Amino acid sequence: MDRLCSGSEGAGMILCANPRAQYLAQQAEIDAAIARVLNNGRYILGEEEQAFEEEFSAYVGVPYGVGVGSGTDALYLALAACQIGEGDEVITVSHTAVATVAAIELAGATPVLIDIERDFFTLDPNKLEAAITSRTKAIIPVHIYGQPADLDPILDIATRHNLRVIEDCAQAHGAIYKGTRVGARGDIGCFSFYPTKNLGAIGDGGMIVTKDAALAERARLLREYGWAERYVSHIPGGNSRLDELQAAILRAKLRTLDDSNQKRIGIAQQYNECLSDNGLILPRMREDTTHVFHLYVVRVPERHMAQEYLQSRDVNTLVHYPVPVHLQPAYHHRLRVPAQMRETESAAQEILSLPMYPELSQENTQQVIDNLRSFMLARQPVN
Ligand SMILES: Cc1ncc(COP(=O)(O)O)c(C=O)c1O
Repeated sequence: MDRLCSGSEGAGMILCANPRAQYLAQQAEIDAAIARVLNNGRYILGEEEQAFEEEFSAYVGVPYGVGVGSGTDALYLALAACQIGEGDEVITVSHTAVATVAAIELAGATPVLIDIERDFFTLDPNKLEAAITSRTKAIIPVHIYGQPADLDPILDIATRHNLRVIEDCAQAHGAIYKGTRVGARGDIGCFSFYPTKNLGAIGDGGMIVTKDAALAERARLLREYGWAERYVSHIPGGNSRLDELQAAILRAKLRTLDDSNQKRIGIAQQYNECLSDNGLILPRMREDTTHVFHLYVVRVPERHMAQEYLQSRDVNTLVHYPVPVHLQPAYHHRLRVPAQMRETESAAQEILSLPMYPELSQENTQQVIDNLRSFMLARQPVN
């Protein structure tokens, strides 16, 4: 074990995610952004929101951005903008935040869930075609943990079957697939700005990004009562707006997103170097992609014991996600599940998310490593 792989204990619980640390890292800019909005007096859909739509869509590499109330709303409004609803089927994965599937149901469509690729935890394109029927209208690949799904074959199948592709980018701000940021290749990219995300607000927020002017326009109408001009509804809509405070905070944080992602990648490298020789299965990175490590997820035998062991040593871990959506009580009989979910179900038993946020220090990363190594050592049989 080299020097980097054995470190000292830090004080206090090491959190799995730490949005307050992100606030403190940029406190002056965030406080200034908040003061600017408070003094401006316009608090909903004003100049901050418009500027953030422009800046974030340009960052992704598409012309249009529509700020909405959350990542769930972004997905639901994306489906609605594509006029997908009652009687339609939408294919996605079961290994995702329940929000992906909830959004399909909110749109009135039927979720069809398929299995993931073992190595990458993302939608398995080889399982896609067998799940398509005459009712299928869209595919939602999820760039889970910050790892881009394999978009080329997914887009290829979608084109052949005339399906929309809506990318769930809630966990992958800034991730790159073959030279393009996630969210730019599909018909629509949907982002969440939940506080723990790679680009996180201090409250809820989301955005739809697209290169399609008509889809952007429809999403814009849908997010505010169908209004093209104030008080005149052109289509039935609802209310899902990104407020000025969140937009101003997100503008400040967008300026440091690439730097934050680099810090996450550095922490992942430290984990990779020091955890590779003790029976854990570490995250794999797809070739020609940039994984932005929203989460650093290992596979560990006896996951529950590992989690308790780490917790008792001040290392907080989480499981994303312990129950696949197709097995959840609220959903299991509301879905179509055309084939077995072997990889999804085995992942749910073994995955463990280690502490990961840009401000996590090298010493604290080391503390996680040391404790996980000693857990793995303790469970090895003595010869
Ligand atoms: C993969 C995925 N999709 C969608 C969402 C929904 O985002 P929000 O919590 O902003 O509604 C999340 C966030 O939890 C997510 O991780």
